[in-house]
Amino acid sequence: MSKPKILVARAVFPEVITRLGQYFDVESNQADETWSKAQLAEKLKGKQGAFTTGSDRIDADVLAACPDLKICANMAVGYNNFDIDAMTEAGVLATNAPDVLTETTADFGFALVMAAARRLTESEHYLRAGKWNKWRYDMFAGSDIHGSTMGIMGMGRIGQGIAKRGAHGFGMKVIYHNRSRLDAALEAECKASYVSKEELLKTADHVVLVVPYSPASHHTIGAAELAMMKPTATLVNIARGGIVDDVALAAALRDKRIAAAGLDVFEGEPKVHPDLLALSNVVLTPHIASATMPTRLAMASLAADNLIAFFEGKVPPSPINA
Ligand code: DGY
Repeated sequence: MSKPKILVARAVFPEVITRLGQYFDVESNQADETWSKAQLAEKLKGKQGAFTTGSDRIDADVLAACPDLKICANMAVGYNNFDIDAMTEAGVLATNAPDVLTETTADFGFALVMAAARRLTESEHYLRAGKWNKWRYDMFAGSDIHGSTMGIMGMGRIGQGIAKRGAHGFGMKVIYHNRSRLDAALEAECKASYVSKEELLKTADHVVLVVPYSPASHHTIGAAELAMMKPTATLVNIARGGIVDDVALAAALRDKRIAAAGLDVFEGEPKVHPDLLALSNVVLTPHIASATMPTRLAMASLAADNLIAFFEGKVPPSPINA
């Protein structure tokens, strides 16, 4: 019997390609070419499965061009690159890669809080530019992490990981806002208290965004929300671009209406708004919160597990629209 045909849309670990090759007739983009949506649709023609990343858009146009497609396995926990309604309508299963990246991503979220609040990259650039010629009492004075209040918006697994780091490791007071409140045992484990979005924005010293992107969460943080924050506060986004209005954020940072920000995700990435690039009080990283080799391998392996289980007629480990 011939093997099902799959497309691996981006370069991934060679060992994952080798494993997939045992089950599938694999076409893979190991050259990591950047494909337009039309090129992706063209490549997907005649394929029954796809291994995608968050950069690969699967929507009604792509699905209409690829009637053989049965499953798209995303190597990411977020799946806003998928039009889930269109996929369900077309009978295409979507899967994602949750859990395996939780702790790594929480580590990075915490790193961005620390880097932004303690002005890590800004001060390093100053030193490298040869500008450091004396000690000064207020040189790159930032804001404290220990004993401060951290406000987490989006209290899923990654939010909980950040809460635990803050509460248990740094003695922070942790408040959170979420669509639904955690049960009492989980709140106690995270040492976190539920508050309204307004209270969180008004009282947190460090606001961390971990909400999934959807049209409903578009610009969760815009000019009005930034105006509620303390002038000494930091804002960290490790969720998705589009959760924050980048233009409004750049204005707030420029006018010192908030102190600093740490951003791993951007509206329209990999482009970054020039207003953000011009500012020194924002730490900018290229969507790397889950980027350690063991975690990226676990994410790729989970995407492969989903494809293999599906074509073996088993229940895939992490279906979205089953
Ligand atoms: C995810 O898994 O959603 C990350 O953003 C991709 O690295």
